[in-house]
Amino acid sequence: MTLLTAERLRLSYGAGAGRHEVLRGVDLQVSPAEIVALVGESGCGKSSLARSLVGLQDLDDGQVRYDGRDVHALGRRRRDRELLTLQLVFQSASACLNPRRTIGSQVADGRDGAPRLRTPEVATVLEQVGLAPSFADRRPDALSGGQRQRAAIAAALTVNPRLLVLDEPFAALDASAQAQLANLLLQLRQEQEMALLVISHDLGIVRQVADRCLVMREGSIVEEGPTEQLWRAPQHEYTRRLLDSIPGRQRAVTAAPLRKVERP
Ligand SMILES: Nc1ncnc2c1ncn2[C@@H]1O[C@H](COP(=O)(O)OP(=O)(O)O)[C@@H](O)[C@H]1O
Ligand SMILES: [Mg+2]
Repeated sequence: MTLLTAERLRLSYGAGAGRHEVLRGVDLQVSPAEIVALVGESGCGKSSLARSLVGLQDLDDGQVRYDGRDVHALGRRRRDRELLTLQLVFQSASACLNPRRTIGSQVADGRDGAPRLRTPEVATVLEQVGLAPSFADRRPDALSGGQRQRAAIAAALTVNPRLLVLDEPFAALDASAQAQLANLLLQLRQEQEMALLVISHDLGIVRQVADRCLVMREGSIVEEGPTEQLWRAPQHEYTRRLLDSIPGRQRAVTAAPLRKVERP
């Protein structure tokens, strides 16, 4: 049974000569406790797709079903209530935290349709993302980029999502913060059987977490497969280009050979 199924999604912005097709018949599925990556260059439509999947962006055509419900057939009220376990963490979410309010009060706000959290509950979700309870009293500018990104994820975790869509969560993080976030995502899946759709422009990063990978180019999925297979034997020329643009990829592959070559 899949948790989320999107079929033939079509979306365009603008009208007449200014009309711009952003999604050109996208299909995708996410199963419970699966980590799926959506990868593609900036401007290919990833964020538009993310908003469409959670019902924040209307479509021209196609259907999204989450846990048996037609996402776009629900009004705002029913969406907040019935799709509470389907959550999106926006691109640049950490930059969107209010600089004047403490992390604790912003995490306590949680999500539309959910009651405000009390202090012990805030401490629990902060701990889930690897932040000590004392972070609740700090303001965003006292946190590193990686800590802010995890605080933004904590706000979404307050409703115990079954599917979390993360739009570019690794962007603007240094390598060690990226590794820490990757571990967190794997842990959420392992401990809470959460499914994740991780959006990124970087195949190298999602390789650490994703079971399956979808490659998107100009509003279409051009290749899809288990992450390792895509990494080792990309079929589409565009996927090969994405792989070639990863610094150090060649070295990483030689450093971990499939077969050990013995020398005399
Ligand atoms: N609300 C909008 N109105 C008009 N054009 C938009 C809007 N959002 C995105 N676009 C355009 O749609 C294309 C896809 O954008 P986006 O979904 O943000 O891609 P990505 O997340 O892959 O960078 C881009 O050309 C972008 O400029
Ligand atoms: Mg985007």
